Amino acid sequence: MSKPRTPARAVVLVSGSGTNLQALIDASADESYGLQIVAVGADRDGIEGLARADRAGIPTFVKQVKHFADRDAWDTSLRRAVEGFEPDLVVLAGFMKLVSPAFLERFLTVNTHPALSPSFPGMHGPADALAYGVKVTGATLFVVDAGVDTGAIIDQVVVRVEPDDDVETLHERIKVAERAMLVDNVGRIAREGISVTGRDVRFGA
Ligand code: GAR
Repeated sequence: MSKPRTPARAVVLVSGSGTNLQALIDASADESYGLQIVAVGADRDGIEGLARADRAGIPTFVKQVKHFADRDAWDTSLRRAVEGFEPDLVVLAGFMKLVSPAFLERFLTVNTHPALSPSFPGMHGPADALAYGVKVTGATLFVVDAGVDTGAIIDQVVVRVEPDDDVETLHERIKVAERAMLVDNVGRIAREGISVTGRDVRFGA
């Protein structure tokens, strides 16, 4: 991506509690961070992620798959809604839907996943890591491609699995590290731009 505007404009998509979104909202309050969250979108209503956006005065929109004839119609509507905010970057922050190749062609899209890719892709990263018995796991920030959590890796952070962890304690500990990684890297993308060549990801336009 060429060097974004200052501040760079981001649309953040969420499906849940939105603590990663909140970390980005808090970071963006400092002008030197270089990011403006211009909208928050969701695939469901009544979630804390949307409430966080409301409290921060950020416009929101909701696109629920069940309100559309099919998945393509949903994706087109999502794309148009995002397009209306003219983002330089789309951040999936706990967004539990896959977006289409057409969406990805249109927007530089990054996603954060609570596992160390390429291990444990999908919706249950912390549970799958725990069940496998790994001793370290973590989080991965990547440029979204057509696969499930397969895109080029921007950054990763390692978290130890403790003997008494259950899915909740492990995921909560991952999320602490994940939020810090997300904030660091999204800020760099906003300020410096990013270039992606195959699986090689570098900051700078
Ligand atoms: C985060 O851990 C994120 O990595 C995960 O959902 C959580 C959202 O937390 N996403 C996925 O598992 C996507 N495959 P939050 O709503 O508190 O930011």
